[in-house]
Amino acid sequence: MKRAAAILGIGTEHVYEVDPDESGRVSAEKMEEKILYCHELGFSVFFVGITAGTTVFGAFDPIEDIAVVCRKYNIWLHVDGAWGGSALLSPKTKHLLQGIDKADSFTWNPHKLMSVHLQCSAILIRHSNILMQANQMLAGYLFQPDKHYETSLDTGDKTIQCGRHIDIFKLWLGWKARGHQGYAEHVETLLKKANFFYEIISKREPFFRMVMKPPFINVCFWYVPPSLQNIDQTSLEYKERLDKIAPRIKERMMTNGTMMVGYQRLDHHPNFFRAIISNPATTIQCGRHIDIFKLWLGWKARGHQGYAEHVETLLKKANFFYEIISKREPFFRMVMKPPFINVCFWYIPPSLQNIDQTSLEYKERLDKIAPRIKERMMTNGTMMVGYQRLDHHPNFFRAIISNPATTKDDIIAMIDEIHELGHDL
Ligand SMILES: Cc1ncc(COP(=O)(O)O)c(C=O)c1O
Repeated sequence: MKRAAAILGIGTEHVYEVDPDESGRVSAEKMEEKILYCHELGFSVFFVGITAGTTVFGAFDPIEDIAVVCRKYNIWLHVDGAWGGSALLSPKTKHLLQGIDKADSFTWNPHKLMSVHLQCSAILIRHSNILMQANQMLAGYLFQPDKHYETSLDTGDKTIQCGRHIDIFKLWLGWKARGHQGYAEHVETLLKKANFFYEIISKREPFFRMVMKPPFINVCFWYVPPSLQNIDQTSLEYKERLDKIAPRIKERMMTNGTMMVGYQRLDHHPNFFRAIISNPATTIQCGRHIDIFKLWLGWKARGHQGYAEHVETLLKKANFFYEIISKREPFFRMVMKPPFINVCFWYIPPSLQNIDQTSLEYKERLDKIAPRIKERMMTNGTMMVGYQRLDHHPNFFRAIISNPATTKDDIIAMIDEIHELGHDL
């Protein structure tokens, strides 16, 4: 929340935290008290963020009750279900999110619990057009309104980020493959495994001690070595010494390379382990893609020289593209000599070739050519080349050679295909 406030320019000092109870839940009463406190300070409260499945304990805030408070003060209610939102998928656990239908927005990360590969995050918003209203900038060079299909399907203009993975496809595939029932069983399997974990830990006292009975699938526990077992558990000495145990064990885990289990302090609790069974095959998973590793590997493998050659190859190919286009006049015409590797050009069908290029008629007719050819490309499934208007230029193609494996034959084939698709227009 604080980071979001910083990014939005609201300022972290304008984020007010509400203390949770022992089980990690924020009550509606505490929430209302904090709202009134902010009002007394002269602030208007416009956003409340609560959690369905907190990161450490897996606690679920009481959505239904907090929604009543938010309605009363006309406050947007956001529920972070990144972790626990998947509980909705099982009839046995969906009660944990009772009242979710009253939230204004809800986030859910299927990459956390549903075994969907990183990353796959969903945001569901009650107000259907609000993202468009907030973010749309109508960048005509990216979101051409004259496409042959329903352009409301182009979602890039309603998000802050523009191009993105179609991460949702992974979820869709998994859901299709396993069905509602399969997904419900997935969640229930995780719960069963977490419960088994909890039982085992409880049986291993006094060496292991639970921080609390897991509200969901987060199993939070201490390992208490024999050297600490005769010390009074309420003493400062005990807390201080226990606090050092998990980091030391984690250090040994990492040095031995046996496994990884996270640990942290929370509230008044000294460092404890938090094991999460988020994989029904019972490996313990945490963290995210180390994307930089892919770059590092590539750079190591090819070296500075290899990377320099990569860029130079792209330039050579773009230059070849440019030369071919120039030789194919009058059917092809460059918008300009490429300053880098973007090759921007028009295809001019025979029907336009005897019209004055400075006339309005020419511009208007040329503007329609690229969209029609693109439509045919997509319908035939042969290739994809983007087009757009820019400044006073009617729609033109923008081909980018970003793959050094592109051959001269590929480039020629691309140009021939455009000619084939467009010569009768
Ligand atoms: C409750 C909750 N919300 C949000 C996040 C952020 O997740 P991500 O960065 O994977 O989207 C986490 C991560 O652990 C989380 O536990």
